[in-house]
Amino acid sequence: MMTKTLSVCVVGGTGAEGSGLAMRWARAGHRVTIGSRDPAKAEAAAAELNQKLGKPLICGAASSDAVTGADVVVLTVPYAAQMPTAEGLKDVLDGKILIDVTVPLVPPKVSRVQLPPTDSCVVALQAALGEGVKVVSAFQNVSAHKLKDPDKVIDCDVLVAGDDKEARAVAIRLAGDAGLRGIDAGPLANSVVAEALTSVLIFINRTYKIPDAGIRITGLGETPAA
Ligand SMILES: NC(=O)c1ccc[n+]([C@@H]2O[C@H](COP(=O)([O-])OP(=O)(O)OC[C@H]3O[C@@H](n4cnc5c(N)ncnc54)[C@H](OP(=O)(O)O)[C@@H]3O)[C@@H](O)[C@H]2O)c1
Repeated sequence: MMTKTLSVCVVGGTGAEGSGLAMRWARAGHRVTIGSRDPAKAEAAAAELNQKLGKPLICGAASSDAVTGADVVVLTVPYAAQMPTAEGLKDVLDGKILIDVTVPLVPPKVSRVQLPPTDSCVVALQAALGEGVKVVSAFQNVSAHKLKDPDKVIDCDVLVAGDDKEARAVAIRLAGDAGLRGIDAGPLANSVVAEALTSVLIFINRTYKIPDAGIRITGLGETPAA
């Protein structure tokens, strides 16, 4: 079992999805830094989250500085910003695990699956960054609404896909530390399922007037052994 405290940088952690994950990981004991294009915005977001947590656990910095000091980088930016943001950080990402949360939504029809020509946007990111970065796909099906209250128990599984088994294990551990159940979903190509599923969940939210539909994999019992 992995117990080491990790240095986690959340690029885009000033936003809805990343800030919820950052809070939960900080509370679980990880060293968390929020990365932003604007260091002042990152520091302000960290201060706000620390106030919510009641402890000064999270730091904020410019994304390149935050990535440099991290073991694991988590990317939580809109689809249109995914590739330019990661390519801009390519040098400092080298040798690290990058967990990509991006869903290839194309507004305004976000409740309709509109995958890019390459199918998975996370696979496209791995191709652009090269083998020096271990890209893992996770958290696409967890709504920010669920994450924002760090005390809320979340009824949702996380499909974790990636071509490096150890990197997948790190993401599965981080899912657990965020109060979720991470499930090994195999190679990075399988990310396409989680990426497409988010539009279905948005459709379900709208149809049934609920804020945060999620997914559960049945048949595993409480503690799956990967
Ligand atoms: N929200 C959800 O419920 C949810 C659920 C599952 C997956 N996701 C996925 O997670 C990702 C983040 O979602 P979110 O709702 O947190 O997004 P968001 O709040 O709109 O944006 C997150 C951060 O991305 C950065 N950003 C925004 N536009 C940018 C641009 N044009 N160029 C570079 N950076 C930009 C901003 O950070 P700085 O200004 O600080 O740089 C922003 O605070 C998306 O891919 C989304 O599909 C979201």
